[in-house]
Amino acid sequence: MKALLLGCGEIGKEALRDLYDYGVFEEIIVGTRTMSNSSGFIPSLKGRSTKITEARIDISDSDAVAELMKDCKVAVNCAGPNYKYELPVAYAAIKARVPLVDVNDEYEITYKMYDLDEAAKDAGIPIIFGLGGAPGIDNVLVRAAADQLDEVDEIHTAWVMSGADPGGFALSQHLLYSLSGKAYTVEGGIMKEMRSFVDGGEILEFPAPIGNVEVFHIGHPEPITLSRSYPSARIVDNKATFIPSGVNNDILELGKLVREAIGPVRVNGSHVEAMDFAATKLLKRCKSLANVAPEAALMVRLKGRKRGKTKKILFSSVGRLGPATGVPASIGAIMIAQGKIHLKGAMPPEVCIEAHDFLYEVLDRRNLAKLNGWVED
Ligand SMILES: NC(=O)c1ccc[n+]([C@@H]2O[C@H](COP(=O)([O-])OP(=O)(O)OC[C@H]3O[C@@H](n4cnc5c(N)ncnc54)[C@H](OP(=O)(O)O)[C@@H]3O)[C@@H](O)[C@H]2O)c1
Repeated sequence: MKALLLGCGEIGKEALRDLYDYGVFEEIIVGTRTMSNSSGFIPSLKGRSTKITEARIDISDSDAVAELMKDCKVAVNCAGPNYKYELPVAYAAIKARVPLVDVNDEYEITYKMYDLDEAAKDAGIPIIFGLGGAPGIDNVLVRAAADQLDEVDEIHTAWVMSGADPGGFALSQHLLYSLSGKAYTVEGGIMKEMRSFVDGGEILEFPAPIGNVEVFHIGHPEPITLSRSYPSARIVDNKATFIPSGVNNDILELGKLVREAIGPVRVNGSHVEAMDFAATKLLKRCKSLANVAPEAALMVRLKGRKRGKTKKILFSSVGRLGPATGVPASIGAIMIAQGKIHLKGAMPPEVCIEAHDFLYEVLDRRNLAKLNGWVED
């Protein structure tokens, strides 16, 4: 069996390591743009007979991606930013009729992925969008909690990211594109517009070493997917912050610069795209942070009813960004290859992934994420 991994950046490397270490694949094809990045990493994977081949590809070219997917059992998309590449890769999967898992975190694209549901069903494949950490692990934890309720009334999701562990360039582009302007949240069963990192401030207690931090509404897919998957929920939110919170302000300031830029920016005598300039600056600011713990965390809290009684369920998780994003995508791909995902269509993780099976795999990867939870009647 062959698997295709697209992108070999901060997240893609973690997915590749997991596909290699745990996978059921005889061959993994790594499709990426700068092959020196993958070539430098692949020799660190040792101990298995799995063949790893590399292919240079521009993933905006759907036909070329479909050609590369041919004969693969499953494809994993960890390239980014998703506002540029999510759709061309999904079109390729439909064309090649190859199941796809990705780590999409863009809310606008999330709506467009639902539009591909019929085409994916016609192609006879699952496309699981947003199977990283958040979205991803948090969606599956919501399902784990919802499976214990007869009726879901409220879904609260939240995450904290360390400025000192900021991912790669594509993640910085995403943060500026999606988290610096509008946020969306469901209140009273209606989707409402908010301001990212401004509205909805609330202090939540995350597991150690994070502790109490103030989180805010942000522009993210969870309110969109979870409100569709659990239509009885009157409140569905996703709140976040960076540690230190100054990074939130950097995102707002640099994101505004990108939105208001008219054409390229002049830097040291040459012209640079405003997004490239701003994302480089954000990444540089994050990488210069000193004495900041690298852990990220997420939390889901559900309120609902079981046999007429109100029940509250909380799950939280703490780990590092790269593995907590790339490994869930790999687990999803392995589950597809093992025939454990039965639904076809374009859908978020909570629709098609059995929480028990998935969380067992998460816990099997020691040190990936520490999971906690409690239930209150
Ligand atoms: N759901 C979640 O929990 C979650 C969490 C974190 C990140 N993410 C998302 O994960 C994605 C990857 O983040 P990252 O930190 O790994 O970023 P990264 O280190 O910049 O990696 C991006 C990868 O995509 C490749 N790529 C970009 N444009 C390409 C193109 N046209 N053709 C082929 N390959 C291309 C890059 O190749 P080069 O080496 O040539 O640049 C690189 O390998 C981002 O979109 C981010 O938003 C999701």
